[in-house]
Amino acid sequence: MKIVFPVAGVGTRFLPATKEVPKEILPIIDKPLIQYALEEAVQSGLADFIFITAPGKEALERYFAPNRELDEFLKRHRKAHLLDGLQEFYRKNFSYIRQEQALGFGHAIALAEKAVGDEAFAISLPDDLILSERPAMAQMLEIYEKYRSPVIAFMEVPRADIPRYGIAAGKFIAERVFQIEKLVEKPAIADAPSNFAVIGRYIMTPDIFPLLRETAHGAGAEIQLTDAVIQLMKKRRVLGYFFEGRRFDAGTTLGYIETLIHVALHREDTRDFTRRLLRDLAKNEKL
Ligand code: G1P
Repeated sequence: MKIVFPVAGVGTRFLPATKEVPKEILPIIDKPLIQYALEEAVQSGLADFIFITAPGKEALERYFAPNRELDEFLKRHRKAHLLDGLQEFYRKNFSYIRQEQALGFGHAIALAEKAVGDEAFAISLPDDLILSERPAMAQMLEIYEKYRSPVIAFMEVPRADIPRYGIAAGKFIAERVFQIEKLVEKPAIADAPSNFAVIGRYIMTPDIFPLLRETAHGAGAEIQLTDAVIQLMKKRRVLGYFFEGRRFDAGTTLGYIETLIHVALHREDTRDFTRRLLRDLAKNEKL
């Protein structure tokens, strides 16, 4: 199965850094966000990556390609292992499609139609970093294999956060799995059918493409995948799946801080230092 990474966003929340560095390359300590998403995909058995990028984000296209000078330098200094995590990507299949205008997430996915072809495909939003024992995308694929219906990842969110997400309601058909009956993109709290929020992992079927094209011709500056999925729900069953694992919202500044601290507290080489640091800070600043 192919996987699409929509990475065309401007990253305004992280300006000025994102003036030159694509937000997906901002590191959680030393590993770019995009690499977390790619590793999750690889660990889920996927190897065909389609990036929907934008002008000015060429660094993303270079990131997963070999850099001969750096490779040689590291070899000479016996530090080749520092690129271990990256070298495994050199042999994978990457394609890059430019989204020339910022017309939204749905429009970005529509651009992948040719590259995806006539098969089910995965979508991953790298801003949603999911840490779990079993990779989140592997869990999604298992649900797709079992039910052969499009699947969208979900988690419950606090009511105050509802307006930031696609929100759904429906009826449960198995543990963690529900058939979506209502879906709205970023509703007001009062209009939300539940607090079940769409998280950036999807398995879609190719019949979403004609619907995206129709949505693309509609009004509104941003074309939403959610609106095409609402149309798809009239034709076939679409499932929601509550994944196992913890999701971090690395696309906001506060979420980014939380992600950093969490990873620092769990990585062996940073854990003890970070624990001590946080404990001392809490003591001295009487938090
Ligand atoms: C997108 C989707 C939204 C979903 C969210 C998850 O929104 O449109 O339905 O809840 O991702 O991160 P965005 O965050 O791009 O505004």
